[in-house]
Amino acid sequence: MRIKIAPSILSADKDNLQKEVEEIEPYADLIHVDIMDGKFVPPITFLPDEIKNIDSKLPKDVHLMVSDPEKSFIDDYAEAGASIITIHAEACGDITKTIEKIKNLNIKAGLSINPPTPLEKILPYIGQVDMVLIMSVNPGYAGQKFIPEVLEKIRKLRQLKPELDIEIDGGINKDTIKQAVDAGANVIVAGSAIFNQKNRKKAIDELREASGI
Ligand code: DX5
Ligand code: ZN
Repeated sequence: MRIKIAPSILSADKDNLQKEVEEIEPYADLIHVDIMDGKFVPPITFLPDEIKNIDSKLPKDVHLMVSDPEKSFIDDYAEAGASIITIHAEACGDITKTIEKIKNLNIKAGLSINPPTPLEKILPYIGQVDMVLIMSVNPGYAGQKFIPEVLEKIRKLRQLKPELDIEIDGGINKDTIKQAVDAGANVIVAGSAIFNQKNRKKAIDELREASGI
């Protein structure tokens, strides 16, 4: 399975988002956009207009770290041009309804779980989604340390779903990417490992090389 690299613009220069995206565009597969509401996680990030204003041919992979995503976030980021919207199983009341809301907008739907949440929590829904996002740090901040215990969830899920897009997010760098890919992840988010390096092409090349694929 080919891996897809999704640089997280949480670690990019917020005042120059367009330029930052242009620097990764030729080498990346998706733009990972972290939306935080100050409730599900303490920080608040990216307004819909900031995302709408990013002009790129890469799909926008919107990760909603928000409580009650069905309230307005899904409509707002759909309008801002999301190609895929991922919600957290811990954050919504009716998961099926929320997935349907995303799909009715003709957008791909992803479902995510935090490190402490067992895979069993989302197994009833994996037939309904286009992607599962396994968090490998507790969400909220870039630059945290990878939690290897989550790899077991990826292994189990990959066995159950050989073709599903499985995304991993948090603490991915040259030292951790291979474990993630070996476990079965094929969509790889990286924030600080890409945007904290001056040469973004080199950073992405190094990640692909270290993945062993
Ligand atoms: C964490 C976010 C991540 C974050 C990853 O809450 O969901 O997408 O930007 O950053 P790194 O790759 O630095 O861990
Ligand atoms: Zn994310």
